[in-house]
Amino acid sequence: MTSISDTNAHSSRGWKIFLESPEIFNFWQRITGAEKWKRRIIREYVKPFERARIFDLGCGTGTMLKHFDRNLNLGYVGCDINRDYIGHANKKFKGRGKFYCCGVDSLPDEESGFDFIIAIAIFHHLDDKTSLQLIDSVKCKLNLKGIFLIAEPVWTENQSGIEKYLMRNDRGKNIKTENEYILMVKEKFYSVESMIISDSHYIPWSVNVIICKNIS
Ligand SMILES: C[S@@+](CC[C@H](N)C(=O)[O-])C[C@H]1O[C@@H](n2cnc3c(N)ncnc32)[C@H](O)[C@@H]1O
Repeated sequence: MTSISDTNAHSSRGWKIFLESPEIFNFWQRITGAEKWKRRIIREYVKPFERARIFDLGCGTGTMLKHFDRNLNLGYVGCDINRDYIGHANKKFKGRGKFYCCGVDSLPDEESGFDFIIAIAIFHHLDDKTSLQLIDSVKCKLNLKGIFLIAEPVWTENQSGIEKYLMRNDRGKNIKTENEYILMVKEKFYSVESMIISDSHYIPWSVNVIICKNIS
């Protein structure tokens, strides 16, 4: 099991070390509703077209690929810092995408020209400096008409005690408010649309979806 404890704002201390195992992580994603949430993200926000190029930042075990329509012949690229996750993704989705084992601070130079760049539950694992550097890299790798989609857990007013407990105990230690997430991107993109989704998962878990575009 790869331990990436304390990389940026990612902590796998205590019981959370088990989530670094691809099988346990996948099981956790299924029972919390994270997997069905990914399906909804594709249906409602990404809506890829035929042969679109997609970059999945912090792709985990690559299960996003399960939810894309195979007939679209997408050019999918994923990257994650966890070697075991990437090993699992390579085995499970052989031939359907390209996976890199790397941190988001060292994305492969040769990968660019994406129609969609997606960041699902990754920014809250990064410190602020790395987040801002990542946004600069995204700007360089996104096509002019491309879409950058962020979906992150978010602090809101009136969250229940259970939700606050779950968020405080997440491996990602840098969950922000909606305003803080917007501040990260608003100077960099022409248009930034933000919404809070409160029924994304089976557990109490508010998500901030932000859609960034270079042109209107
Ligand atoms: C909550 S998981 C989300 C995974 C995936 N996006 C999904 O929705 O299934 C966060 C992911 O970020 C990865 N991660 C944490 N720090 C990272 C870094 N500095 N660079 C790349 N990936 C990182 C973790 O290994 C983990 O797979």
